[in-house]
Amino acid sequence: MEQKEDCNDWEQPLLKKETDVAAEMAGQQLALKPIKPVGLSWRGVSLSIPLKGKKNKGKTKEILHQVSGTAPAGRVTAIMGPTGSGKSSLLNALAGRVSFIKGATLEGELSVNGMPVEYGVVRRLCAYVVQDDVLYSFLTVQETLTLATHFYLPSALSEQEKATYVRDVINALGLAKARNTIIGDGQVRGVSGGERKRVSVGVELISNPSLLFLDEPTSGLDSFQAQSVMSAMGSLAQSGRTVVAAIHQPRSSIFDLLDMLVLVSEGRIIYAGSRRGLILRLPGMVLPPSVLPQ
Ligand SMILES: Nc1ncnc2c1ncn2[C@@H]1O[C@H](COP(=O)(O)OP(=O)(O)OP(=O)(O)O)[C@@H](O)[C@H]1O
Ligand SMILES: [Mg+2]
Repeated sequence: MEQKEDCNDWEQPLLKKETDVAAEMAGQQLALKPIKPVGLSWRGVSLSIPLKGKKNKGKTKEILHQVSGTAPAGRVTAIMGPTGSGKSSLLNALAGRVSFIKGATLEGELSVNGMPVEYGVVRRLCAYVVQDDVLYSFLTVQETLTLATHFYLPSALSEQEKATYVRDVINALGLAKARNTIIGDGQVRGVSGGERKRVSVGVELISNPSLLFLDEPTSGLDSFQAQSVMSAMGSLAQSGRTVVAAIHQPRSSIFDLLDMLVLVSEGRIIYAGSRRGLILRLPGMVLPPSVLPQ
């Protein structure tokens, strides 16, 4: 059974349809500051990691092998594949986070808007939403985002200007109703799972990045919450941002929200291109009408 979005708001109908969520999100006016569109493309990305243990001295494991693809500006690009296929590794490689792994070697070319760049350049341009977010449970949504302004925005900005950023992010992510709800935890009820994920995205959006990476933004959420998160990502893409998400087994209604797909298996590319292009490539595949992506 679908869960109610916010247990603190008893005025809402108990079951809200997914189409309502999509419509709500589509109606959001993104008041965030204009951003510079960033189209990302990569070619021949290979990642190897040294194996641990004395027996394996000098040996490496190839996690990604010659992976290529594109993530255009203003589109949601999904990296999909079975568990252990290399989705997070590819996301980390593209976001310039592989340097955190000792002894890792990363090869391949990255381009931003058609210009070849170093991996570190993308790291400076992007925001990265990790799978297991860390938020203070006793702060409200508004307080959480206000705290982020102190970390991410120049101290020269006035409190008034910072408050405007917070308001814009809250509106952009459809969090207005949860503005004064605490984040909560296992002991104290707070925002819903989908709202919590959107707050994590909001913290990263405070710096107004052009490029947003998300690792499994929908995992652990029920279908309603997962839809609300991905609808918000669609709205962010419509405002010109580039959204790249590693996503595991999306349901068909979420699959329909994706523009570009990068399918990986055992670190190798199976398909990189538009969602429609994939469906055209699989003409023989017969699915029940209720799950057939449109
Ligand atoms: N730092 C590391 N050291 C050793 N092996 C690693 C490291 N990071 C990833 N791997 C291995 O690389 C492979 C790909 O891992 P990755 O986390 O990218 O997969 P994934 O597709 O994101 O999986 P999941 O859906 O479970 O999150 C796995 O076999 C994993 O064990
Ligand atoms: Mg992963």
